[in-house]
Amino acid sequence: MSRQDAINDLKNRREAAHAGGGEARIKAQHEKGKLTARERIAKLIDPGSFVEHQTYILGRSNDFGLADKHTPGDGVVTGTGRVGGRQIWMSAQDFTVLGGSLGEMNARRIAEAQHLAVKTGSPFIQINDSGGARIQEGILSLHGYGEIFRANTLASGVVPQISIILGPCAGGAVYSPAITDFVFMVDGVSHMYITGPEVIRAVTGEQVSQEDLGGAGPHCQKSGVAHRRFSTEQECFSFITKLLSYLPSNNRDLPPLAESTDDPDRQTPELEEIVPVDDHQAYDVRNVIGSLFDRDSFLEIHEEFAPNIVVGFAKLAGRTVGIMANQPAHLAAVLTIDASDKAARFVRFCDAFNVPVISLVDVPGFLPGVDQEHGGIIRHGAKLLYAIAEATVPKVALILRKAYGGAFISMAGKSLGYDRVLALPIAQIAVMGADGAANIIFRKDINAAEDPEAMRRQKIEEFKESVMTPFVAAGYGYVDEVIHPADGRTELIRSVEMLARKRDQLPAKKHGNLPL
Ligand code: HXC
Repeated sequence: MSRQDAINDLKNRREAAHAGGGEARIKAQHEKGKLTARERIAKLIDPGSFVEHQTYILGRSNDFGLADKHTPGDGVVTGTGRVGGRQIWMSAQDFTVLGGSLGEMNARRIAEAQHLAVKTGSPFIQINDSGGARIQEGILSLHGYGEIFRANTLASGVVPQISIILGPCAGGAVYSPAITDFVFMVDGVSHMYITGPEVIRAVTGEQVSQEDLGGAGPHCQKSGVAHRRFSTEQECFSFITKLLSYLPSNNRDLPPLAESTDDPDRQTPELEEIVPVDDHQAYDVRNVIGSLFDRDSFLEIHEEFAPNIVVGFAKLAGRTVGIMANQPAHLAAVLTIDASDKAARFVRFCDAFNVPVISLVDVPGFLPGVDQEHGGIIRHGAKLLYAIAEATVPKVALILRKAYGGAFISMAGKSLGYDRVLALPIAQIAVMGADGAANIIFRKDINAAEDPEAMRRQKIEEFKESVMTPFVAAGYGYVDEVIHPADGRTELIRSVEMLARKRDQLPAKKHGNLPL
């Protein structure tokens, strides 16, 4: 072959690889409202920055008719590029080649990209759009999945891992995204389930549509498998670009320090309006977040799941922080099984990636009820305590109003290692609310009184003023500072700055045993 022939051959082979499954299958993909793997990469990655890796990989199995099939890239495109200027490694399953199904070489290609993400300290992003295990390849396919799960697990806590589900993701395939830090879905496009509607109908007799079973809605609202959903693929990619701008590339780096877009000395007198003194009155804690942190910097994660706790990233004078905030607008902010799981997983992410945690506290306790008890609130609530106790990043709590019982310990307990606990003057800290406490410890006085109701009210007030005030906790050093609401923002900034150089170590061990 002459040099020119070799170059022409290269050109043809490259074009063939880039054409994936060919025009008809690309058309079919578009007709389903989906982009192709390469179109997705072009939209996610900074223009001109994508470098494909292992472009010419082909499937090598000849069984069950595969010998006649050409499998460019073996159903996946991998490589590296920049997102918002930051290097990432990625894979995008190519549904136009054998339905993006995962066979031996497809899996090997994905795992190689995962390993290079870890070796280069770069976030890993995977786009899933696949018919699952390549049926013809049997054990090779299963082995390939196992390798990907293991690579996900080893990368966990080393580089941020993001999964974007943009098509079917069924059977064991769902477990790779589930191991990663963030799962994003698009309405009407993404579907995740262990077994689809037909298998469910055959096994349990339940009738359910694909969307109601495994669409973005149920996974964002009920199962908590997905962290956010979008109406279009483009919206999802823009969100990921923003998310990455808050995060370090790996566990050895600090989160990027942005220039502050908001006055660090800004006063927050509006907190007095936002947080009502009446502890039965609800309010939206997002308004507190909007007041304290850099304007418009809050990036909420898991917004629709367990809305009684709000978690997400924000900037505080340009520094990335992770916020965990009780939400009185839902279920009076009680901690539930789902809220505990949500907050614990978020705190563990923050801790792994050097993001300080700020807890905004207004919580009456854990939710009473047979469902919660039998669902394992003890086991799930323990995850939150464990995650906080284990986290070595700076931990700051601001008690806005109620902080009762075990919920106080998990949200603001110096006992769990919070470094700085602040409280507004109206904060109430106790084993339980004043009504319940008065009924128990002053029952005899109340029953013996001429006017039991008046006596009850009096005892409640006495209890609030003598036991629950933040100055009692401050007297013991369990609240470090009682602050004026107008100083909320400046006090949080000072707290995070004073702790920026914090170093703390856990006792040497292989790993702990998180109560799962
Ligand atoms: C091999 C597959 C495939 C698979 C799809 N294809 N899934 N090839 N193995 N798992 C091929 C099809 O044969 C077809 O090839 C092409 O991909 C496009 O598929 P269509 O069916 O035409 O697409 P569509 O109508 O959009 O349907 C998509 C689908 C359907 C719903 C995903 O393909 C499907 O049900 N696939 C099987 C899903 C499944 O049961 N997978 C195994 C799950 S169990 P041609 O050549 O005709 O274009 C599993 C275990 C993993 O994954 C365990 C890991 C631990």
